[in-house]
Formats: sequence, structure tokens, C-alpha cells
Amino acid sequence: MTVLYINGSNRKENCSKILNDLKNQDDKLIELADKSINYCLGCNTCRNDLKEYCVIEDDMQEIYEEILKADKIVVATPIYMNHITGLLKNVIDRFNPFSWHDDLLKGKTIYLITVGQMNEEENKNIAINIKEYFESIGEFMGFKTIFLKNFTSGDIETIDNVTKMYGDYEQIIQKLKEKIKKI
Ligand SMILES: Cc1cc2nc3c(=O)[nH]c(=O)nc-3n(C[C@H](O)[C@H](O)[C@H](O)COP(=O)(O)O)c2cc1C
Repeated sequence: MTVLYINGSNRKENCSKILNDLKNQDDKLIELADKSINYCLGCNTCRNDLKEYCVIEDDMQEIYEEILKADKIVVATPIYMNHITGLLKNVIDRFNPFSWHDDLLKGKTIYLITVGQMNEEENKNIAINIKEYFESIGEFMGFKTIFLKNFTSGDIETIDNVTKMYGDYEQIIQKLKEKIKKI
């Protein structure tokens, strides 16, 4: 079973830490912050072209390959202005080839993690919106969405100082690992 991890943040902090703690040594982690990804041109060349997923020659080509290899994809995104980051939305727009060829993502599962500075309860509806957004595109692209957890960034930033929280965090990571393995 191949699991791909994608960090939708513009930096390598909270989401990066969570994904690094979740992943096994051999699993691939893509940090979108390291990638150069252009906007979808809306040319719809991908509609008819089964082989080249997108005409734009940028780092998205590598991401397509990694996504197609993976059975499970774990995506972590910071909450930005009550939604996913623009960086991640840009990548989702580049999923356009998958909407024309819905067999490509069929049977895959996208696991979602959100991280915001507001607490889990305050961001509850935002997390639900993000989950529903992925579910809605999954409907026509053929992938299933499982929401893993809505973290509060403070939980993670204070890990090294607060032993109790560290214990909680470790337990959470362990549970999420099991969930990714099982479902
Ligand atoms: C432009 C911007 C918008 C943000 N909007 C929200 C928000 O709407 N709700 C929230 O809880 N946190 C918001 N945050 C805080 C981030 O979600 C938080 O810092 C998160 O930890 C970032 O993840 P990272 O550390 O992996 O980059 C925002 C941060 C930035 C820079």
C-alpha cells in the first residue's frame, strides 16, 4: 500500500510536523512550498489527451505521477481565511485531467487534516466545509474523502514545552496512523 503525503502550506511548520510524524520512512512527502506550480490555463487540452495529463511543464507533472502511484493520499492544509490555502487550491484546480478521466483516481482515498490557529470547536464548521468541498469534487473524480482531524496550531507549537499535550499529541498521531492503515 503506497501512501502519499501532501503539505498544502506555504511553509514547513505545523502541517509539515504532523505529516512527518504520521508518515513511515519510505512514504513520500510532497511539500508544496518547495514546488513551482502554475495556475490551470483552462485550456481543457486534458479533456481529450489521455497520456499527457496537463500541457503545463512544471512540478505538477511529478505530483500527477506520485498521485497515480498512491492508493492513499494524506493532505494537510492550514486554514487560510476559513478555507484551504491558495497553494493547495491551485493544485486542486490542476486536478482537471482527473475530472475528465475519472478512472484515474477511482478507488483512491484522500485523508484530510486541517490546522488553524483558532481552536477545534471554533473551526468546526470550517473543517466541515473543507471536508464537504473535497467530497463534492471526489464525487466526480471518483475518490473517497476521509476527514482525519482539525488541529489547533497552538497544540503543536507548544509540544516541546507541555508534556501533557505532547502525550495527547502522540496518542492522536498513533490513532490517525491506525486509521490511515485500516480504512
Ligand atoms: C493568510 C492567513 C490566513 C489565516 N486564516 C486563518 C483562519 O481563517 N482561521 C484559523 O484558524 N487560522 C488562520 N490562519 C492561521 C493558520 O491556519 C495557522 O497558522 C496554521 O498553523 C498554519 O499552518 P502551518 O504552520 O502548517 O503553515 C491564517 C494564517 C494566514 C497566514
